[in-house]
Amino acid sequence: MDTRKHLKTAYQDEKVAMAYDEEREFRDADLSLHYETEIGALLEALKDIKGPILEVAVGTGRLCRRLRGTGYPYVGLDFSMPMLQEANKSLGSDGGGIFLLRGDAFQLPFKEEYFQAVIGFRFIKHLDPENRRTLYKELGRVMRKGGILTFDFYGWRKRAKKEGGRLTVKALRAELEESGLKLLKVYGTRHILCDILSVPFRRLKIRPVVKALGWLEIKVLSRIDELLDRSRGGIAVCQKLGT
Ligand SMILES: C[S@@+](CC[C@H](N)C(=O)[O-])C[C@H]1O[C@@H](n2cnc3c(N)ncnc32)[C@H](O)[C@@H]1O
Repeated sequence: MDTRKHLKTAYQDEKVAMAYDEEREFRDADLSLHYETEIGALLEALKDIKGPILEVAVGTGRLCRRLRGTGYPYVGLDFSMPMLQEANKSLGSDGGGIFLLRGDAFQLPFKEEYFQAVIGFRFIKHLDPENRRTLYKELGRVMRKGGILTFDFYGWRKRAKKEGGRLTVKALRAELEESGLKLLKVYGTRHILCDILSVPFRRLKIRPVVKALGWLEIKVLSRIDELLDRSRGGIAVCQKLGT
């Protein structure tokens, strides 16, 4: 299957776009451990970023609406108009300093070395290795030297094997290095223990405990993943090499 083409076409349907957040528990009122952990890790990864941020495949804007106030300007780019319309609705009338744009992440309409950080969630991990490499090159082109690229990846899970994206941290590091990117950090977001522990608190809608479990994943369990150089899946933070 051509993963690049498939991703480009799969979200063109209005119904798919409208159901996206609800089906995955990505609405702000939901208590999704996974979503909370992603936001926590992103806020930490972006804490020193002040300059322009690009989020490719921004989708319904579920991440950017929680990351308002990080770098400025914050540009959210997506190929699907229906997904961008959902993002537009969720951002509210003034957009909160986030600029939405229709475009192709493989052919970005930006000049070289403009962005200080680039984000690409639930997008890069669905691509096959060849397309990932092509994309790293294009994202690297618009990133400043020393800038940050962060995205989620499939680690060592059965599902990932089925989708062909199963990656060890070592293999991820190697493919990034080939593309001039240095893996700085891995946040594990798929720890079975936290998943199981979160279930009753999600049912009882006790948000602080779900958030605390997310904190445990980012601050404690991720360090163990790093020591073992192994992750069931998580978030990679890397830096464009060069001075
Ligand atoms: C699974 S959704 C992820 C949305 C969002 N990043 C998230 O984490 O929820 C994949 C998104 O990638 C977008 N997409 C696919 N191919 C693209 C391309 N070549 N350029 C820009 N966006 C693309 C789709 O339109 C869709 O919104």
